[in-house]
Amino acid sequence: MSAPEERELLLVGVGFMGRPYAAAAKRLGLRVRAIEAHDWAGAIEHLVDAVEPSQGRYGALDELWAETVHAAVEKSLPTGIFGFTESHVLGAAMAQDRFGLPGPSLQAAVISRNKALQRGRFRVQGIGQPEYRLTDDLAAAAEWAAARLPVIVKPLSSAGSDGVELVADTESFERAAVRRAAERPLLVEKALDGPEYSWEALVRDGEVWFSNLTAKETTGPPHFVEVTHRTVPPLSEPDAQRVAALGREVLAAIGMRTGIVHLEFRLTQSGPAVMEVAVRTPGDYLMELCSLTYGIDWFEMVVRLTTGMELPPAPRSPVRYAASHFVISDPGQVVAVDGLEEVLGHPAVEDAAFKVAVGDIVPRTSSSLQRTGYAVLAADSPEEREEAIAFVRRTLSVKTVPVASEE
Ligand SMILES: Nc1ncnc2c1ncn2[C@@H]1O[C@H](COP(=O)(O)OP(=O)(O)O)[C@@H](O)[C@H]1O
Ligand SMILES: [Mg+2]
Repeated sequence: MSAPEERELLLVGVGFMGRPYAAAAKRLGLRVRAIEAHDWAGAIEHLVDAVEPSQGRYGALDELWAETVHAAVEKSLPTGIFGFTESHVLGAAMAQDRFGLPGPSLQAAVISRNKALQRGRFRVQGIGQPEYRLTDDLAAAAEWAAARLPVIVKPLSSAGSDGVELVADTESFERAAVRRAAERPLLVEKALDGPEYSWEALVRDGEVWFSNLTAKETTGPPHFVEVTHRTVPPLSEPDAQRVAALGREVLAAIGMRTGIVHLEFRLTQSGPAVMEVAVRTPGDYLMELCSLTYGIDWFEMVVRLTTGMELPPAPRSPVRYAASHFVISDPGQVVAVDGLEEVLGHPAVEDAAFKVAVGDIVPRTSSSLQRTGYAVLAADSPEEREEAIAFVRRTLSVKTVPVASEE
């Protein structure tokens, strides 16, 4: 093997959910070099050919991830670079741009990282979205908000609904302004009504190669933590066309070139309205759901796109109906976790686990991080999928008892 000619993928971030990228790249005969957070580097060593430890942290310190990327590409130029999650896309995109490698584009990566930049760009492009106000003084936005209640307050660069809050009336807005006075800048948006979806697209040179629609259920107000995702939800033909048009418009608006896009929107009375867009791996097992639904490995498709490899023929239709479901528990101390074995034994269930154990303290759920368990499933029909989700809902259980110190 002549090392310099070997084709190589530089994977920026692997963590746990990114492991299938490494596996797919190895299967495709690529060398895999990973950039990984110091704490995680040891855990992924056996999955890749080399690891470059980074000071970056998941969800934060993009600049430190980028620093490690700069150093890694100076050392040797890979065939392709892929930024796994939100905090990795900037560093990856800078190197892709500098060396002319496939990627979402620097523009798309920057916009992906900042919800206010998304709002500003979408406004100019006439893309459906809520009215919004960017502010570095929440109290000063009170009058604007009062005329549009209920509103959503959210940070510009976070994820998993962390810091996202519905404010229903003027008193609550005043309280939020006091509580969040140190936090700036913030986005205030008119709260939109309508079912929520995400659109996952594999994109090559700005064109959609393949896309999927997922229906999303959340806990609802005030924090909208994601509970259930279902691929291939029923949709009228006009709505399907609106969604396809929205996808194309958003790709053009952010300057998307090559990779994966995760777009979240609500179907409102006046058409689709964007919640946010990201040019990185979607969470909540959506990659797994897409793979189960279409019988192709979405991780492998992303590796192919990233390293300029050919793609197989695009799937024609779903082969299964997939879902992921998350357990939300009352705050308190965990006294029992039940039903995992039964759930794993269900023919539709692909994977399930608890995130907590007896004795753990569960805080009130305000972001995805506080969910206590999950199941991934796939069935031959939408009806069987509903039965399987219902089974998981009533079987997978985390019992808690209130503790005195809790909030
Ligand atoms: N303007 C809005 N109107 C209605 N719901 C919203 C709005 N903005 C956010 N949400 C709800 O909050 C959730 C999280 O907000 P989002 O902007 O996607 O942040 P995150 O990056 O944390 O996922 C959304 O999935 C949606 O349910
Ligand atoms: Mg979101």
